[in-house]
Amino acid sequence: MNNLLISNRELITTITINRPKQLNALNISTIKELGKAFNNLQNDKNTRVIVLTGAGEKSFVAGADIKEFSNYDNKQGTDLSRSGHLNLFNLIEDFPKPVIAAINGYALGGGLELALSAHIRVASKNSKLGLPEVSLGVIPGYGGTQRLTNLVGKGRAMEYILTAKMIGVEDAKHSGLINEYCELEDLLPTCENIARKIIKNSPRAISKAIKCINASLKNESGFETEIEEFGKCFQTDDFVEGTTAFLEKRKPKYN
Ligand code: CAA
Repeated sequence: MNNLLISNRELITTITINRPKQLNALNISTIKELGKAFNNLQNDKNTRVIVLTGAGEKSFVAGADIKEFSNYDNKQGTDLSRSGHLNLFNLIEDFPKPVIAAINGYALGGGLELALSAHIRVASKNSKLGLPEVSLGVIPGYGGTQRLTNLVGKGRAMEYILTAKMIGVEDAKHSGLINEYCELEDLLPTCENIARKIIKNSPRAISKAIKCINASLKNESGFETEIEEFGKCFQTDDFVEGTTAFLEKRKPKYN
């Protein structure tokens, strides 16, 4: 992987997008590498939570690589968006293991869309978020119009996208765009704390919960999906362990 750093500790895998000179802008090869990295982690026993961040102290990801697509025609633009949706952004949203975006600076355009695909967002105080695409004559192309609206509601999404403004962490926390914010040096420890809380729980139940929460946002029958996935939990090893531990008044042990 030329554009990523990947490390693993205590069941947490950290993926760092490593193009700091370009503020970690998402070029096509980085998108491909990210897709490959996520696919590799799907069945990795040492990975229960993924933390996604950017290299350096200035930027998470400053957007899709403008240099790369500035000469694209309609078809190339459509293909860029469609392949991004299919190969990375939907993959992260539907990933069966929790993905936490550790936003360490600019999260703009495709960078914010990447964070929006993650399940939880934590930002450092220096972060600036936004979907500035309309300022470039384009619109968010990696799911931003849908995921931002789902997260913060139509009114705020209209404001953020149409003004193309940079959003500070207080505004972002207030609108629900991020879950929390902290000092830059506390960013990864804060994400790891959240990850550790998640890891105490049943991984199979967690992947089912992610699927059901996402189903409610996809015009699918979220309730029906919930009923089916709820039923599938029964008789799993985790369900047996979890309920047995409760009845025996001890903490469950999942692996
Ligand atoms: N694409 C390509 N290169 C980028 C980039 C991007 N999105 N963002 C930053 N860079 C590059 C700059 O071109 C510059 O490279 P060079 O040194 O080779 O010129 C380097 O990163 C450092 O950037 P700046 O000198 O601009 O740094 P700054 O501190 O002055 O400004 C910034 C920081 C405000 C984030 C500014 O870089 C900026 O506005 N970037 C673009 C943000 C943006 O519009 N993102 C949306 C992209 S469109 C999109 O994402 C479409 C989609 O939905 C699919």
